[in-house]
Amino acid sequence: MIRSAKREKAAKQQEADAAAVERREKELERSLKPSLLPRHVAIIMDGNGRWARSRGWSERIRGHEAGTQAVRAAVETCARLKLEALTLYAFSLENWQRPRRETSALMHLLRRFLVAERDELMENNIRLIATGRLDDLPGYARQALDKTREMTAANTGLVLNLALSYSGREEIAHAVRALAQQVAEGRLQPDDIVQESITENLYAPELGDPDLLIRTSGELRVSNFLLWQIAYAEIYITDVLWPDFRKVHLLEAFVDYQKRSRRFGKVDIN
Ligand code: IPE
Ligand code: IPE
Ligand code: MG
Repeated sequence: MIRSAKREKAAKQQEADAAAVERREKELERSLKPSLLPRHVAIIMDGNGRWARSRGWSERIRGHEAGTQAVRAAVETCARLKLEALTLYAFSLENWQRPRRETSALMHLLRRFLVAERDELMENNIRLIATGRLDDLPGYARQALDKTREMTAANTGLVLNLALSYSGREEIAHAVRALAQQVAEGRLQPDDIVQESITENLYAPELGDPDLLIRTSGELRVSNFLLWQIAYAEIYITDVLWPDFRKVHLLEAFVDYQKRSRRFGKVDIN
């Protein structure tokens, strides 16, 4: 009897909390200026392991699994607000140094995600691409990735870029190798190498630089993410752990972004 009353009270509280979040989302969305939304957002999705530990679970992978809900919420929100691109740091080159049990579980989770999200991506006109050392991925993950990329290739809405086996320094080395090759073949003079030459030879130059870089779980570092592209990105760090990150948190980041004065080294004219 007492237990069921307690349960009822908890359910009521949950309902009230959900309603409060919805009100806050509406309020935040109303205060956003569509013309000042970031064009390209990049997210370092961090804190999955700590999220699992905070629940007393020893398996970090439970945090990664829960994180896919946060991915869905972020993708859905960015597509609905008509952003051009969302880059998600899903797996770094350095992450291969984690125990095999974890990297393998992450790769299987990636494959499941890529298959499960196909309908949603198509319905929302989202084009999926991936950047990083994709040849490092196990065959089963690579095949699922290639199929989802092909299926969504003609979509014209949000570009969802998954950074996989990604390293910012490696990406710059990749661009430099391409330029060195052109020099070796006599198609490029060293004196003609300018900043744009590097930019044009990055993995996905068409995305442009991110306007806003978000990192969850409170770490104050960039962990080798988009080193070239974040030169003038606005940085937003939240203590929220990635599996808890929802639409309301993303909207809060956008509202904060809209308060920034982006000067690019110039004098503010406002
Ligand atoms: C981010 O969460 C996911 C990946 C790096 C793949 P972590 O696994 O780094 O979680 P924490 O930082 O240990 O809490
Ligand atoms: C960055 O998180 C990589 C991803 C989110 C995929 P990490 O957890 O690997 O970064 P560090 O080790 O804390 O710098
Ligand atoms: Mg981490």
